Amino acid sequence: SAEPTGVAPANTAKPAGTAQPGGTAQPSGPGGSFAAIGDAALVIEDGWIAWTGPAAQAPAADEVVDAAGRAVLPGFADSHAHLVFAGERSAEFAARMAGRKYTAGGIRTTVAATRAASDAELRAGLGRLAGEMLAQGSTTFECKSGYGLTVPDEARAVALAAEITGEVTYLGAHVVPAEFAGDPGGYVDLVCGPMLDACAPHCRWADVFCERGAFGADEARAVLTAGLGRGLLPRIHASQLGPGPGIVLAVEIGAASADHCTFLTDADVDALASSDTVATLLPGAEFSTRQPYPDARRLLDAGATVALATDCNPGTSYTTSMPFCIALAVRDMRMTTEEAVWSATAGGARALRRTDIGYLAPGARADLIILDAPSHAHLAYRPGVPLIHAVYKSGRRVG
Ligand code: NIG
Ligand code: FE
Repeated sequence: SAEPTGVAPANTAKPAGTAQPGGTAQPSGPGGSFAAIGDAALVIEDGWIAWTGPAAQAPAADEVVDAAGRAVLPGFADSHAHLVFAGERSAEFAARMAGRKYTAGGIRTTVAATRAASDAELRAGLGRLAGEMLAQGSTTFECKSGYGLTVPDEARAVALAAEITGEVTYLGAHVVPAEFAGDPGGYVDLVCGPMLDACAPHCRWADVFCERGAFGADEARAVLTAGLGRGLLPRIHASQLGPGPGIVLAVEIGAASADHCTFLTDADVDALASSDTVATLLPGAEFSTRQPYPDARRLLDAGATVALATDCNPGTSYTTSMPFCIALAVRDMRMTTEEAVWSATAGGARALRRTDIGYLAPGARADLIILDAPSHAHLAYRPGVPLIHAVYKSGRRVG
């Protein structure tokens, strides 16, 4: 093939005699558990991982990249982001930090700005955020609509999102827009009918904000069922602002992921633990709304699969940084450094039902990052420090 047949970000030994961990940190296969190899190498062929193991046993390669003792990880899989929007809401954030409470009502501010923006403005914003994500090590990211809330504005959002990612999510059911305030049922009909028709060709996923002030269980079920009818796989925003029916609905409908999971009942935890539905935790939202963080430990101890994602959006979590989310998860959500890195890579892949990303072993795409640090733990140990030394997508250096 025309691709270089071998690139080996060989994680060379730490200076002899140090006991510090180095090497690749990786789930051993799709859905595998966290495992680190010290003094490791990996071989890339045609954009895929062909081999991983101790550097001393590495097969010869055409081109060798010496990672000089830095840690090599799978690229982050950010499985939850709202990137198609205009404007910003720093005044709302500042008011919250001064004591005001978050309500979903702020979404309408962004809806107005987004409707008024040109395609070029939205595309520019999307490009800027996608660039930030890549620079911070996210080699895969999901992108939702949800700030248009008319047929043409939602269709435009998913079409723009599809220009930069294959993981596009239809979120026409984000909130009921002001013009439907007196007729929420009419809005759900629009979301399940003409809006879905216009959006489905660009999307892989359908999502709904199932929360008091947004959509109830019956409405959410109707939206996700209609999406399934058009081949869109379900995911859900649930139990962000208070306990609600969204988690149980997610499991019942076979959603790939239930996102936020901040206020969980024991029944919610049991439902998640005995299902394939990933619990996706979004600590950037709790950081930015001053809410209690979700209890990752409770979910993990019950046996649920946990993913971490940024929830990047201008209202509740205006960050594109998976390292920041990892640091919050380790410091404030009782996750170990290994669990947090797993959840940001393999967990995100699971939440996107992807078996080709989120780990470094044969069978995986060569989507990986090299840290300016000897171990994965530095992502939480050195919060706020730009530690991404290099980013590779399908074996090509992109950052
Ligand atoms: O995931 N919860 C619903 N949607 C976003 C917030 C959107 C906004 O406030 O603009 C979230 O947190
Ligand atoms: Fe969200």
